[in-house]
Order: sequence, then C-alpha cells, then structure tokens
Amino acid sequence: MTRVLSCIQPTGEVHLGNYLGALRNWVSGQHENDAFHGIVDLHALTITEGPDTLGTATMELAAMLFAVGLDPDVATVFVQSHVTEHSQLAWMMECTVSFGELSRMTQFKDKSAKREAEFISAGLFTYPALQAADILLYDTDEVPVGEDQRQHIEITRDIAIRFNHRFGDTFVLPKAVTPKTGARVMDLQDPTSKMSKSSESGAGLVNMLDDPAGIARKFKRAVTDSDSEVRFDRETKPGVSNLLEILAACTGDTPEALASRYTQYGPLKRDTGEAVVELLAPIQARYHELIADRGELQALLRTGAGKARRRRCHPRQSPGRRRHAARLTARSPGQMSSACRSAAAAGPAPCTSSSVAAADPAARSISAPNRS
Ligand code: TYM
Repeated sequence: MTRVLSCIQPTGEVHLGNYLGALRNWVSGQHENDAFHGIVDLHALTITEGPDTLGTATMELAAMLFAVGLDPDVATVFVQSHVTEHSQLAWMMECTVSFGELSRMTQFKDKSAKREAEFISAGLFTYPALQAADILLYDTDEVPVGEDQRQHIEITRDIAIRFNHRFGDTFVLPKAVTPKTGARVMDLQDPTSKMSKSSESGAGLVNMLDDPAGIARKFKRAVTDSDSEVRFDRETKPGVSNLLEILAACTGDTPEALASRYTQYGPLKRDTGEAVVELLAPIQARYHELIADRGELQALLRTGAGKARRRRCHPRQSPGRRRHAARLTARSPGQMSSACRSAAAAGPAPCTSSSVAAADPAARSISAPNRS
C-alpha cells in the first residue's frame, strides 16, 4: 500500500488554495493509501505570535481537517509536536543539508524579504530540514501538495539520497503529487501571485469559512484581463485562467472545455463564485458542529498521535533496509554516532502505550489551547 503523508501549518485561516491544492486530495486518497496528515505546529513557530494563538489555531485546523472529510478511523491525523521524533530527526536533517541548499529555497527568500525590517528566525531558514523529517520519518512514498511545495519535496529527496549514500539504505525517496487542477490557485486581485494566508488584500483571498455573499462578491470583483476573450492561457490571461481553473476544480471539467462555454467574463465570475459556495457549504456546516466540541477534537488528536508514533516505530522493512540494518548491527560502536545508528537501523524499540502517553503532556504544553 502506498504510504502518503502531507501536512499543513496552523497559521491563519484555511483558504481555497489549501483545499483545492492539497486537502481535497488527502480526503480522496485516504481510502486507497496508508495516509498520514499532520498539523505542523512546530513549523508555525517560525512566525512569532502571542500566547494562545497557536493552540487555538491548532484546534481550528483540526476541526477543518475533519470537516473536509478526513476520517480519523481511516487516516492518521496528528499534531507534529505530539510526536517528538519529528524534532529529533530534524536535527539530523539539519546536519545533512547544506547552508547553500537552504539559502536557495524560494520560500525562505520570499518570506524573509517580506519581513525585511522584522525578526527573521533561524527556524525560518532551517524550516525545510524539519519538513524533510516529517516526510522521511514515515517512509513516505507520496506527498500530495500544491505546486508551491515542490521545491521542499525536492530538497527532501536530496537529503534522503545524501543520508542513504553516507549511511546505507535508510530512507524511502518520496515524490510530490499535485492535482491536475487547483495545484496553484492564484490571488483573485493579483492573479500573478498565489492565493496565500499572508495575502495583502483580503479581497483576493477566499477563506473556507467566508460567508456565501462574501464569496460571491470576491469572485464578482476578481481581476480579469484587458481584452474580453474567455480563453485558458496562464501566461497571457492569468486572471481568467485562474477563474477557469477554480471552476474546473469544482465541476470536474477541464478549464479548456469550460472556456468554450463562455463569451463574457461576468457569467464566468458568477458561476465560479456559485460553484465555490456550493462546494464549501457542507464543509462549513460540519466545521461549526466539530469546533463546538473541543474535548472530542483533543481526544481525536491524541489518538492520532498514538497511531503516528506506533506506525513510525514499525517502519516498513524493504529487503535493502533489512540487509542494511544487519550490516549496521554488525559494525563496531563508534563507526557511527549512536543517534545515526538507531535512526539508520529504523528507529528505537517499538513504542509502548506508556511511551505514547508520556509524549503527550509535553506536546500539550506547546500546542494545546487554553482551556479557561
Ligand atoms: P501550507 O500550510 O502553506 O499549505 C498547506 C498545503 O496547501 C497547499 N497550498 C496551495 N495549493 C494550491 N494553491 C495555493 N494557492 C496554495 N497555497 C497553499 C500547499 O502546497 C500545501 O500542500 N511547508 C508546508 C507544510 C509542511 C508539509 C510537511 C507539507 C510541513 N511539513 C510535510 C508536506 C509534507 C506548508 O507550509 O504548507
């Protein structure tokens, strides 16, 4: 069975780009794959927020992940800081990636440029090493993501190849999987930039919890192009193409086929807004039910963390890895650091329920919401 892992940061509201580029595929893939989905609260610490913000955002994101259709009995949905091995492996990843490689990450360059006069944490720079740990920890085959994450998956592969070369067959090489439509949803006001939580104009960003009238208004005011021809061409007609691609992602048609049905921008904007409202309505209703019961959400996340830790402790054994583990055990101590040896030989002894329980309280101190 293909092992799939992908994660999302609990920063700001989940938006249409997150849903069409990633979450929707997590849901559709959960039944045929062995699926792991993480709320990466440690990654969110790269941006400083006030007290309580992260805990609340983590719960809200959990409610959204279940509302879009992740089934806790099928997929493993967990919070990153609840599984302490993520940060342990991250250090080894930091020691396997180079300063030069991290310096070339476009996301680091973009984000640090935007925060020029502000505090830029070292964590923002080493962020891809933690992401590599998230992925490699679970022997992930496929990572369903939006287009913007491709470079992070590429660097993960590079790190895994380097580690395997140095220490023997240890990590599975993952590949990024992006959807046919919706892999890069653009800002409605600036269709040359991707839709993003940090979007400057709220008018270009469609959040999953926006009300129907607000969604219709945002699409009605979407920036299109100077001529009036409806044609799918990302290069020369980014605004119209973005609308066509969003509509295609909602209806299952191709953007090209949809383009042939419109002669004017107005009806295209109206229909796209209506299709998005229809797509989001059941998710919004389910979200409001789930967020009302935080105790249940916490219980689901605790179960998810337990499942994640147990699976991580019993990685799949490929023939190459079995041979490699046997070779390592035969080596004299001191040829490798003990940390490398235990990771390379596929992790420590199997988890017990007490080790799972022991991990939880520490994790809760980082990301559990204030219950007062
Ligand atoms: P994040 O939290 O920014 O986004 C979560 C997912 O949403 C996708 N996405 C988009 N897809 C299409 N159009 C858009 N405008 C758009 N904006 C966001 C992202 O591609 C992503 O799939 N670094 C990651 C989180 C992460 C991760 C991981 C992902 C940490 N560890 C391990 C995969 C595997 C991030 O910041 O995603």
